[in-house]
Amino acid sequence: MTPGANRNCAGVVSVHKEEAMDWGMKNRMQRIFKEDGKTVMLAVDHGYFLGPVSRLEEPRKTIEPLIPYADSLMLTRGVLRNCIDPKYNIPLVLRVSGGNSIMSKDLSNEGITVSFEDAIRLNVAAVALSIYIGTDHEHQTLINLTKLIDESQKYGIPVLAVTAVGKELEKRDTRYLSLSCRIAAELGAHIVKTYYCEDFEKVIKSCPVPIVIAGGPKLKNELDALKMAYEAVAQGAKGVDMGRNIWQSRWPVAMISAIRSIVHEKASLKKANNLFNSLKNGAHP
Ligand code: R5P
Repeated sequence: MTPGANRNCAGVVSVHKEEAMDWGMKNRMQRIFKEDGKTVMLAVDHGYFLGPVSRLEEPRKTIEPLIPYADSLMLTRGVLRNCIDPKYNIPLVLRVSGGNSIMSKDLSNEGITVSFEDAIRLNVAAVALSIYIGTDHEHQTLINLTKLIDESQKYGIPVLAVTAVGKELEKRDTRYLSLSCRIAAELGAHIVKTYYCEDFEKVIKSCPVPIVIAGGPKLKNELDALKMAYEAVAQGAKGVDMGRNIWQSRWPVAMISAIRSIVHEKASLKKANNLFNSLKNGAHP
């Protein structure tokens, strides 16, 4: 037998290390995307550039009640180590890019902020990094992505690329987001997180890896956020990676439960909204 080769349980010889790694990659993807291929990720990583953003001032208080309803948590290593009990068996998507704050004029100047070794030590299911297409730091953030993907392939840990827009929220149109999502996938991202936009189906169709949507800043009312999630999933999103529209709601558990019904139970918008209203009025999830 070739040195270093292994025989699997079916007696098939596996020579390449990468083959063994692929199982880990698939397993981690399946921990994030449930049996129906969809996911409700709870995004709580905002502090990495926003600091103590409203309703996330005390991360543990906000996050803990929502953990039973989330399929995975997207967060920083600081919040993970200090505010999340290791007893929780929830897949973690670790933010590994950053390096500036909301005070900075240009949010796109991001670097990689966590070593791959530390991500592995934290037992993460995936790592997440932002790319900023069309900015002065486009090249830098895309090279960050490719470096991370090279590491991720070695260790079988998926990379989620966030198509970030910084302060320029008006950038969230079909052309820009299709371009950003496709480039992220072409460079090897395993999951792409983007914004919902008009003709979202076009963004989905031209991106060969699963897309999840961010919610963006808190919308005026919960029905608007439910509608966004509903439209996105109906047009092919594999779920959400949503933050503020969940935990900045006065009724975060009702909100995440209604989002779950859209993502995992194919609930109509009306049904999801009814569920939200009944939970908000005191029914138990
Ligand atoms: C933003 O920079 C973070 O990556 C958030 O995780 C992301 O924006 C999703 O959260 P929200 O639904 O609040 O936009």
